[in-house]
Amino acid sequence: MKKLNTFLICTTIAVSCLAASPTFTVDASRSTGQVSPTLYGLMTEEINHSYDGGLYAELIQNRAFLDNASTPVHWSVVNAENAAATITLDSTNSFNDKLTMSLRLTVTKVDKKHSAGVANSGYWGIPVQPKTSYHASIVAKADSNFSGTVTVSIASDDGRTIYATEKISNLTTDWNKFEVTLKTGKVAPTTKARFVITLDRPGTVWLGLVSLFPPTWNDQPNGFRKDLMQMLVDLNPKFLRFPGGNYVEGDTVETRFEWKKTIGPIEQRHGHPCPWGYRSTDGLGLLEFLEWCEDMKADPVLAVYAGYSLKGAHVNPGADLEPFVQEALEEIEYVIGGTNTKWGAQRAKDGHPAPFKLNYVEIGNEDWFDKSKSYDARFAQFHDAIKAKYPQLKTISTIGDDQPEASRVHSRKPDMIDGHYYRSVDTFLQMSPDYAKKYDRSGPEIFVGEWAAYETSFPPWNNRSQKEPPTPNLKAAIGDGVFMAAMERNSGLIKMQCYAPLLVNVNPGGRQWRPNMIGYDAISAYGSPSYYAFQMFSRNVGDEILSTASAETSVQGCATRDSQTGEIFLKLVNPQTNAVSLNLEINGVAALVSKAIAITLAGNPDDSNSITQPKQIVPITTTVRGVKPGFTCKMPPHSIVVLKLRPRS
Ligand code: AHR
Repeated sequence: MKKLNTFLICTTIAVSCLAASPTFTVDASRSTGQVSPTLYGLMTEEINHSYDGGLYAELIQNRAFLDNASTPVHWSVVNAENAAATITLDSTNSFNDKLTMSLRLTVTKVDKKHSAGVANSGYWGIPVQPKTSYHASIVAKADSNFSGTVTVSIASDDGRTIYATEKISNLTTDWNKFEVTLKTGKVAPTTKARFVITLDRPGTVWLGLVSLFPPTWNDQPNGFRKDLMQMLVDLNPKFLRFPGGNYVEGDTVETRFEWKKTIGPIEQRHGHPCPWGYRSTDGLGLLEFLEWCEDMKADPVLAVYAGYSLKGAHVNPGADLEPFVQEALEEIEYVIGGTNTKWGAQRAKDGHPAPFKLNYVEIGNEDWFDKSKSYDARFAQFHDAIKAKYPQLKTISTIGDDQPEASRVHSRKPDMIDGHYYRSVDTFLQMSPDYAKKYDRSGPEIFVGEWAAYETSFPPWNNRSQKEPPTPNLKAAIGDGVFMAAMERNSGLIKMQCYAPLLVNVNPGGRQWRPNMIGYDAISAYGSPSYYAFQMFSRNVGDEILSTASAETSVQGCATRDSQTGEIFLKLVNPQTNAVSLNLEINGVAALVSKAIAITLAGNPDDSNSITQPKQIVPITTTVRGVKPGFTCKMPPHSIVVLKLRPRS
């Protein structure tokens, strides 16, 4: 298919002499504004197993036995023939006041050939890779009669193959943490594996926390999956909006993202229910978010809990809200405070003495849902407190340009407003030419903090049929393309934009939303056509917006120029089912280098990528010859084309 695409593109992006119509005109003598240097970024929250079972590289599911109060879900007994064991949750033997549950493993029968114990099935399997070192850690204690050895292994589901194994001894009646490295040999990659803990003799052992990490991005302890991080870095993001979305709000006030509970050693993190139907370990906590930004060279856009939760509860502005305002101020201090401050010192203790960069603080999430209409007053209280202590920070209101003017914040002028656009492809095709045309340019800056084109029916959340693929097809990417072009044309005002959701575990039951940008299972990952569309935009952008106009065509696009090199980035989207011979008129440049780079995403609109076909729709880079200020570009049907034009002096 890739070959077919290449053939299609090579034969259809051709240049010929200027014809009459349709026409796309760029006026390179007229800049309509500066491209925001932070236009392209990422939005993230715990949804679709984005972190646990996703980016956060922990391989053990329910590592602290807190996921279900009555059953040790994802754990099962290992016993065979002459071996027998039982497992029970035990709240009377907990490691500390954060990890309030343990697993009691009692082995009653065992012989030399048959061990007994417990196994964890991971997040839809444990990924086994050849010649790889895994870091396992176990918090455990034993009853006084047990003086045996504990074996930890990565083993096949049927128990016949042991991929890696190590022994732990010296368990005592006190809790201790044991760490071992498990090394695989020359094995074939598989996810049909489990993490197994067995005893060599009868006895009882309690497990307080069981953790297993593969090699992580930059070898960071408690770190991230390498393949997913590489895919994110490849998007060239300039900011990361975190920790949500609905995740920052929680279903209830009590289950909000309570940042103080997400820092420190993982043994100190109790975790909490996320609003998407499962528990978060909080292994990916505030410091990990900030380091994630640092690793991507992206600015944090910090969302703070603002007194409204998804199921409708709100905290009254005034005295009731004050503790939450303080919580946010302390959170900001953790991010940017010097080590002479309480929370800056805590950050240093947690391993990061240098303050992080921070420009924007978002106050809440989608507060137009708050039926009490308390957001104006809540926003004002947060805004005033933040500005008083940190006048350099910009505040973002979560009632954005997608909501009626009257419903927005009026008692203060937010520096920025965040609008969310989940729209059908057809809606984007219709609204994009005029998007933001009527906006007040002296009003707040605009953030499009969540958006995505969907190609099937609404709504995108829980009740969607799991039969639909978790990631979008090329048709959706065409909708994304026209909306991104509209945002880029207006990027003097629209300072930041980010697609959502970013990540999805594609295993059955893994997702709560569609469409999503990047799909993965335990061992593989792929980008959807929307991923590649975003990448084509975010990696090819200048700093000056050029005036553009189109005539006699449904092709939409935008143009920017790098003011240092003069290179023009022309982005064109053809939503039609037929190829288009598009006259490109580049006014205001004397001459162009006759060879230009074209990056094209094209194909069957219904096609998509998947775990088994990760590269069905990918961008193809070709060289276009005969380029001059007036030339014809033949665009394939359903295509996004980025042309990189260089001026000739
Ligand atoms: O992106 C999924 C959800 O959509 C976000 O959590 C929420 O902000 C929006 O409604």
